[in-house]
Amino acid sequence: MTDSLTGIRTLVTGGASGMGAGIVRAFAAAGAAVVSCDVQVRPAVEIAEKATAEGPGRADFVECDVTRPDSVEAAFTRAAELLGGLDVLVHAAGIAPGAPAETIAVQDWDRVLEVNAKGTFLTNQAAFGHLRENGGRILNFASAAGVIGLPNKAHYAASKGAVLAWTRTVAQEWGGLGITVNAIAPAISTPMYATTRASLTPEQLAAHDAQIKSLMPIDGRLGDVDRDLVPLLSFLAGPGSRFITGQVFAVDGGMLMVR
Ligand SMILES: NC(=O)c1ccc[n+]([C@@H]2O[C@H](COP(=O)([O-])OP(=O)(O)OC[C@H]3O[C@@H](n4cnc5c(N)ncnc54)[C@H](O)[C@@H]3O)[C@@H](O)[C@H]2O)c1
Repeated sequence: MTDSLTGIRTLVTGGASGMGAGIVRAFAAAGAAVVSCDVQVRPAVEIAEKATAEGPGRADFVECDVTRPDSVEAAFTRAAELLGGLDVLVHAAGIAPGAPAETIAVQDWDRVLEVNAKGTFLTNQAAFGHLRENGGRILNFASAAGVIGLPNKAHYAASKGAVLAWTRTVAQEWGGLGITVNAIAPAISTPMYATTRASLTPEQLAAHDAQIKSLMPIDGRLGDVDRDLVPLLSFLAGPGSRFITGQVFAVDGGMLMVR
């Protein structure tokens, strides 16, 4: 069950899969007008069409590669036309390949930083142009990896550290305009997490599961998009969060806590 988001005009990146897809569905179901953006067209279109058919809100799809300035600018302009403006950006697009730090190839480092860090910079800057008059909300998907590191994903961790530093900085620069900028550090079961699990040997997987179990006081395994993430995102997208900015919200069963 979510709070009502009737009339909230939201652009969601990464709307073809995982948490972005879940937010597109849930926000439309709570009455929001949503534009879903992704590089994967077919699944995103299907998700948006189904969300619109189920109502009471609606979702449209606009193709967007968050690494390309021209693509981002065009997608945000089109989204604002479709929505009649913009209130909220949920920036969930990202990639999370793995490799031991000493073997990361330069092109892999560049690609991860391009999608996760540059994508955050470009989408947030594009959103700013639409939010500067009336304020609004930006919700960036960071990661606990950007705070405490993540073995086998050093380039990913570095990119999410950049997302956090960017989020805190623009929260300060744009707060005077009524634009809040917050970060999410999730631990939610999605296709991205399934890919990470599939890359592990049986021994590594057993060690991974044991580690999550010992570090996560609630459940001991990753959470569910609708049950565990949507309620917070619905609150953060709404008017009740106007006084909250520059924060990192860990939706992770208690993994990322000060110990
Ligand atoms: N799943 C987790 O527990 C977890 C943990 C920490 C952080 N995150 C972060 O949360 C966000 C969402 O993750 P998810 O698990 O839902 O992942 P996911 O892989 O299920 O979905 C990510 C989406 O981003 C899209 N995308 C990738 N590159 C893009 C580009 N250049 N332009 C536009 N779209 C692009 C993909 O097509 C995909 O639809 C990511 O930023 C991820 O790093 C996830």
